[in-house]
Order: sequence, then structure tokens, then C-alpha cells
Amino acid sequence: MRIRTKPLAWLVACAAATFAAAPFAASADELPVKVGFAAPLTGANAGYGKDLQNGVQLALDEANAKKIMIGGKTAKFEIRAEDDQADPRVGVQAAQKLVDDGVVVVVGHFNSGTTLPASPIYNSAGIPTIDPAATNPTITTRGLENMFTVISSDAQNAGNAGAYAVTTTKAKRIAIIDDRTAFGQGEADEFEKAVKAKGGTIVTREYSDNQTVDFSAQLTRIKAANADLIFFGGLDRQAAAVVKRMKQLGMNAQFVGGGGVMDADFLKLAGDAAEGAQAWEYGSPLDKLPEGKAFSDKFQKRFGVAILSYAPFGYDAAWAAINAMQKANSIDPNVYRPVLKTNTFQGITGPIAFDSNGALKNASSTLYQVKNGQWASVVTKHGM
Ligand code: ALA
Repeated sequence: MRIRTKPLAWLVACAAATFAAAPFAASADELPVKVGFAAPLTGANAGYGKDLQNGVQLALDEANAKKIMIGGKTAKFEIRAEDDQADPRVGVQAAQKLVDDGVVVVVGHFNSGTTLPASPIYNSAGIPTIDPAATNPTITTRGLENMFTVISSDAQNAGNAGAYAVTTTKAKRIAIIDDRTAFGQGEADEFEKAVKAKGGTIVTREYSDNQTVDFSAQLTRIKAANADLIFFGGLDRQAAAVVKRMKQLGMNAQFVGGGGVMDADFLKLAGDAAEGAQAWEYGSPLDKLPEGKAFSDKFQKRFGVAILSYAPFGYDAAWAAINAMQKANSIDPNVYRPVLKTNTFQGITGPIAFDSNGALKNASSTLYQVKNGQWASVVTKHGM
């Protein structure tokens, strides 16, 4: 009997083609689902961006392992990550790249300063954005039908900080510094509004930018104004620089940060000066949430690092999209968007449901304080 063999060159060519195409090609019964992700992956905010990306990746890994069927095919969720460098201009370019790449949802961006200019691009393309970290209150009040957030806003978080400073810690002479980003300025405005609504006094309002490393000028003026509490609108690294300089200047005023300060990077950079610092952070403490510990352990095992801050929100944002696509049995935004708007589920960070603006319903925020070198939760407020 004669056995017919394929020419060796033909076999090699086929094998090479299969291998080369493997990461991108879907088999006939697979449905590739491109999930856009945008955040700072380089620069001073890169730690937050990587943490969020890991949260999203964990959700996609789990969804892929479940072999979710959509439209009769097995969904294969693939992240398409763009580095927006925390820069509004780069954020817009990243958004256009994701739209051109054909993503069917976006989880991102991290900063309010990039989210505000990028989200109209996704909105015009009809692509839902589920934001896990950007908190400027105007993000969900501009009438963008494709904008959703799974995190509380600064109207709530910084608003609670302002009310608490006057009514509970009874600060009499309050100073504010903000980094002049859409985020920092936005939370400082909300803090100031709440202080004034409670009859409190702002003795001075100071500014930096988001690259400032030396806050001597601002703090010298605040010291001269005899402030007993300083609210900082900005992120962890700069907050650490503020408390270090306060200590060097012998200032005893309370330090209160807004979102993005309550993390390990602040503790590491501020050292001894961190003790006693307060920070209001979105949501409820992870260790008090039913699935919080299991999620932290799973995250540590998968990535070999601890959660920095917003990874659980990234995970919940990704699942909001996955659940909606599965329920709608479609990855077409026009088909799954109505389901996304009304679907509710139990996330790691709490129940996920959206109001008519796409903002998280029943959001909470928590005050933390550094005690013995560790962040400890003090009080959680549901609503304002
Ligand atoms: N919550 C921060 C912002 O909105 C990260 O920029």
C-alpha cells in the first residue's frame, strides 16, 4: 500500500501560519470580545493604572474560564490596553485608538482629567464606558448615554470630608490645597462647598500643579493663616510630600486627603509623617465586604502583588459589561446597553446598579486614618 504524504514544506507552512495567527484568530465557535482599557501605565500614576488593569484582567480571565456563551459562541474576552499617561491630550488619542480598534466597551480612564475629554469620543462611537476610578461629579451629569461609573463621586466623598471636618473634628480654621487637575480642583470645590454649608471657615485656598514636589510656599502661607486643618485635593505621592513638609515645618494641623491617598504608596513615601493623616476614600473597606478577603487573596496569588487601591472597582466594572453582554446575548452595544443600564448584581465593592445618569446607585465613602503606620477605617457613610 502506498501512503501519500504531504510535502514537508506544505506542513511547515501550515504550522507556521497556525502558530502566527494563534493569539488573534478565533476558531469558528469562538466570539472575540475586545474590551478597551485606558489608564496611566507610565509616569507618577502608573501604579494606580497597573492595579486597575490587573483588576480588569482578573475579571476577563474568570469570564473566559467560565466559557460564557453569547450568540451561540464561546465568548473570548481580550483586553486592549492603552497608556493615557494621565494626560488629557494623550487620553483623547488613546480613546480614538480604542474606537478604531473596534472595542465594544471601555473600562477607564483612571483620571477625571482624561475621562472628561475622552468619554465624548466613546459616546459618539456608541461605545459604553464603565469608569472604575474617575470621580469628578460632572462625569455622569453631562447627558452622555454611554457613560457609567461604579465608584462614588467627589460630590459625595469630598462633600463628606467637608461636613465631617466642621461637625465632627470641629476644625475652626480650614485651609485647602489642590493640584488644579479636574480631579483635585473638583474635590477641593466640593469640600469647600460642604464646609461652608456647615458654617465652617476657609482661611486660605492654595494651589499647586500635579507635578509639584515642594509644597513649602503653600504651607508657609497656611501656617501664617494659623489653619488647624488642611484638605489636599490630589493623589498619594503629592499628599505624602505635603505631610512630610508639614512635619518639617512643625505644623500640627490635621491633614485630610481625598480619594487616591489611602494606599501603601502614601505610607511608604510619607514615613513617620504619615501618622495621624486622614483620607476619605470611595466605597466601603474591602476587609469588611463579604468577598473582600477572598478577592484580595486571589489577586495576590494571580499577580504576586497586593491590591494598591482601585483594582476591585476595575474588576466590578469589567463584570458589569460581561454580565450585560451575557444577559443580552450580544456584544453589540446597541443591544446590550439597555441591559447594562438596568442590570444589578453583587460586585466585590458592593451592589452594582446605575441611576438614570449612569452613576453608581447607593454609593458609600469611608474615612481612614493612619494609626501605628497602617491605614485603619474610622467611619463609612452611605450617601452624604
Ligand atoms: N478619583 C481620581 C480622579 O478622578 C483618580 O482622577
